[in-house]
Amino acid sequence: MAGKTAFGVDVGGSGIKGAPVDLDTGGLLEDRFKILTPQPATPQAVVGVIAELLDHFKLGPDVPVGVSFPAPILGGVVAWMANLDQSWAGVDLVEAVRRGTGRRATAVNDADAAGYAEVAFGAAKDHPGSVAVMTLGTGIGVALITAGKLWPNAELGHLEIDGQDAETWAAASAKEREGLSYPRWARRLQRYLSEFDRLLAPDLIVIGGGISRKHDKFLPLLDLRPQIVPAALRNTAGIVGAAALAWQEAHPKG
Ligand code: BGC
Repeated sequence: MAGKTAFGVDVGGSGIKGAPVDLDTGGLLEDRFKILTPQPATPQAVVGVIAELLDHFKLGPDVPVGVSFPAPILGGVVAWMANLDQSWAGVDLVEAVRRGTGRRATAVNDADAAGYAEVAFGAAKDHPGSVAVMTLGTGIGVALITAGKLWPNAELGHLEIDGQDAETWAAASAKEREGLSYPRWARRLQRYLSEFDRLLAPDLIVIGGGISRKHDKFLPLLDLRPQIVPAALRNTAGIVGAAALAWQEAHPKG
């Protein structure tokens, strides 16, 4: 693999996906490969799947690897865990990947990876102002980016509103679990996003996650001050953002 290439892995609750990424375009160099998330998704089992993904693509030793993970990552360590196996809390993800694959990876929160990808290549490309990229899925992930710089691990999907963690009632999983129609779910999003705007006042909100494919069913129902648009990268954002951040870590000047 030549050119500006890195490998991105996206760890999610149902699947663990990977692909090599062309960082000049943000496109995948090969089809992504997905392996179902092992249950229970313990550190050992998940790292085993990451090793399988790397083997599948026969990566050269110098290709940087980025891992997008659904938790806050402080200095490579999983600070705490909302929706994946609780045994991850406190685990050094970078060290676990090194032991399981022999490689030094860059570990990053999944929403941060998606946010970085949207700003580098997608719906917020080159946006000069303040951008919040949200992934609506099992949980709510939030990336905050100002003038292209990421404020990592924002964790604002857990804003407490009316005494309850917002992601438990406003994530896409709540819509599915409670069988909510789009209009009923949109009322919850309206509540969450208005509070988010009141506290953070972003210029632009980008909505990602699988459900963003159906954005025409709920974005027009929202009445918000900031501009709000669907994500452009959809299901590759985690892979692309993790790869881009890994490349950046490996080449801090270029
Ligand atoms: C986690 C975040 C993550 C988000 C989306 C939340 O429950 O706390 O770290 O970004 O889900 O996966």
